[in-house]
Amino acid sequence: MNPLSDDTRPAEFPPGFLWGAATASYQVEGAAFEDGRTASIWDTFSRLPGAVRNGDTGDVACDHYHRMPADVALLGELGFASYRFSIAWPRVRPDGGAPNPAGLAFYDRLVDELLAHDVLPWVTLYHWDLPQTLEDAGGWLNRDTVERYADYALTVHDALGDRVRHWTTFNEPWCSAFLGYTGGQHAPGRTEGVAGVVAAHHLLLAHGRAVTEIRSRAPEHQLGITLNLTVAEPYDAADPGDVAAATRVDQLWNRVFLDPLLRGKYDDGLAAHTEGMTWRGRTWQEFVVDGDLELIGAPLDFLGVNYYHGDAPSTRAASTGRDLLGSRVAHPERPTRSPFPGGDDLVFPRRGLPVTGLDWEVQPEGLHRLLVELDRDYDLPPVYVTENGAAYDDVLGVDETGAACVDDAERVAFFDAHLRAVRAALADGVDVRGYFAWSLIDNFEWAYGYEQRFGIVYCDFATQRRIPKASARYLARAAAANRLPD
Ligand code: NOJ
Repeated sequence: MNPLSDDTRPAEFPPGFLWGAATASYQVEGAAFEDGRTASIWDTFSRLPGAVRNGDTGDVACDHYHRMPADVALLGELGFASYRFSIAWPRVRPDGGAPNPAGLAFYDRLVDELLAHDVLPWVTLYHWDLPQTLEDAGGWLNRDTVERYADYALTVHDALGDRVRHWTTFNEPWCSAFLGYTGGQHAPGRTEGVAGVVAAHHLLLAHGRAVTEIRSRAPEHQLGITLNLTVAEPYDAADPGDVAAATRVDQLWNRVFLDPLLRGKYDDGLAAHTEGMTWRGRTWQEFVVDGDLELIGAPLDFLGVNYYHGDAPSTRAASTGRDLLGSRVAHPERPTRSPFPGGDDLVFPRRGLPVTGLDWEVQPEGLHRLLVELDRDYDLPPVYVTENGAAYDDVLGVDETGAACVDDAERVAFFDAHLRAVRAALADGVDVRGYFAWSLIDNFEWAYGYEQRFGIVYCDFATQRRIPKASARYLARAAAANRLPD
């Protein structure tokens, strides 16, 4: 019995359930300045003193750009039906300018290689690597970036749309908006209060523009967006302050995206929690133009949900000591703020649940609740869990045959417990169509650099050797049988 779960239901998943593994361009590709690629905001940010642990950058990462065929072969060997990867905007339209055939050629080869191994390509158009030139022009606070994104999205669709059917416009726009422009923990590292909501609006608008354009060209394609969502339970449900904190976090984390996407409007609660806040003299509402919400609310074919941890907001000073991202904050030398506008009073005390290497609370039941509540509260399209996984301190060992191995039993238990949560949601009637493990391989974990390993395949960064961990074998068995392994 899994120590993280007491579930005893049958282990099968529905026929056709999609099993996959995920990565993102900046985290794995390396080859940062090859074949015409120019700087992204992460190339710049990772060079700022104190921004990333140990001064790590994505310059080399997993060198996937050069090792792609072997990595795809490994995916095939493990038996994953799908690979979720992202396109590097500064590779295919360097500096946000004209298309770069050499950069596009890499993704062309990647897609062909995947199809040759019978792996379904699942493309994410934006996983955080905005061309630096566009940030210099204002980034996601500049409405013009929306048009640049729409042009970029169509360039990629024109190049790959004959073979790729599944398109995610944005990965975790919450991080781009609020860690990027309010909290400063992520690139571009700005701490400008309610600017995060302005950025969120432009990201949503860019999503709506791309969905509308791609839909008109390829109505048969599957279009969606991936959000990182939380269940935000009050730390103490009997404390009105904690209950209010959880409501505020729900607005500034979940509903800021869910409501415009799935209800075509921003909830009044968002306005209430940002009242009196301005960015450069304007409220965020002043950036919303007639017609924007119709675009943002364009129908979706799927919603991607990324889930990693439980969260219990509170405002009680006595419970401080932990910020949202964990006590092992990556950026001690850089002044950061709460990623929630006006949220410097918000804390996330731990509740005594098990934690991962990042000090994130392991709460599989939260995934079940999240899916059920989403289904209850919104008119949901089919859902895919587009990321789930955990960082643990992996130890490289040797098996009985003398081969290198990693026995990541904690990660196996983590996946098992969360897959049980998905199954419980399915049993409750939520239309969950697939599950992607984060990540195929250890990689550049943003502000934590290479210190935190999320891979199901170990990467020896010195030699670039790949060693599948026990968790990769576990998921391969699950994928092959379409059921939880015994
Ligand atoms: C979500 C992000 O999409 C991914 O890039 C990141 O590595 C994982 N969370 C783990 O933090």
